[in-house]
Amino acid sequence: MRFLFSRVPLLALTLLGLAISGAQAEIRQTSVWWLPRNVTMFGHEIDFIFYVILVLTGVTAVAVFSVMIYFIVKYRAKPGVSAVHSHGNNTLEVIWTGIPVFIFLALAIYGNEQWTQMRLKTPPADALPVAVIGEQFGWNVRYPGADGKLAKMSAASVTKENPFGVDSADPAGLDDFTTYGELVFPVDRPVRLYLGSKDVIHAFYVPEFRLYQDMVPGRIYDFVWLKAEQTGQFQLACNQLCGQGHYKMFGKLSVVPQSEYEAWAKGKAPQPTAAKETSTVPVVMAGR
Ligand code: CUA
Repeated sequence: MRFLFSRVPLLALTLLGLAISGAQAEIRQTSVWWLPRNVTMFGHEIDFIFYVILVLTGVTAVAVFSVMIYFIVKYRAKPGVSAVHSHGNNTLEVIWTGIPVFIFLALAIYGNEQWTQMRLKTPPADALPVAVIGEQFGWNVRYPGADGKLAKMSAASVTKENPFGVDSADPAGLDDFTTYGELVFPVDRPVRLYLGSKDVIHAFYVPEFRLYQDMVPGRIYDFVWLKAEQTGQFQLACNQLCGQGHYKMFGKLSVVPQSEYEAWAKGKAPQPTAAKETSTVPVVMAGR
């Protein structure tokens, strides 16, 4: 009994913890207990394979437990009845091994094909390039100006003062503009991300985009791209425990119509005098 009682405070603490975490989860306004809505092109395939696996494992779990319970009851110990010893059944074993092998292979082939589409194929040429460099504890964001091109970036050049690792001699970067923790994506247009980190491992995570990519310092990831199909307000959350301020490392992300994006970008673009300064000081940290 004493063993049981000592568990009571622990249980109360656990329930309190669950209540608090439940309250925080309600920051999401809709679909709190299920997948958040999907707003990107690749999300359809990701959700599809999620539901296929959920149904397969769900049906299997119900079937296995039903048969198990039935056998437990049917073959329970009865007085005067001795146990039966079985040597197995080769045909049955081939079937119940063959079917899962087929299912796993199908899932692997489908998953691999989708992954190839998402990460291994070159992003579309008309994609809007956007650089996002994580730091403790926020997001440096860099957009191309009217030329549609970002300055050349290299992970080796990333420093405290130059979080994007841009080549200041590259004329493509003169009209680039930057924000801090603010991202705006045009809807229905591919966006090619250049992801990196200034200090420790962070992760670019937007549940509604079904997109999660670690950002390891020393690398610029140029293969992640997406296409948002719906407008809305989202939160970019860091998904790697990166220090004491990890919990507050989020960014404001909006998906807006192309015209609205253009108006926003125009408002952020460096003025001609500022553009000159950009050539010597490549990074303008707006909002800091
Ligand atoms: Cu950055 Cu957690």
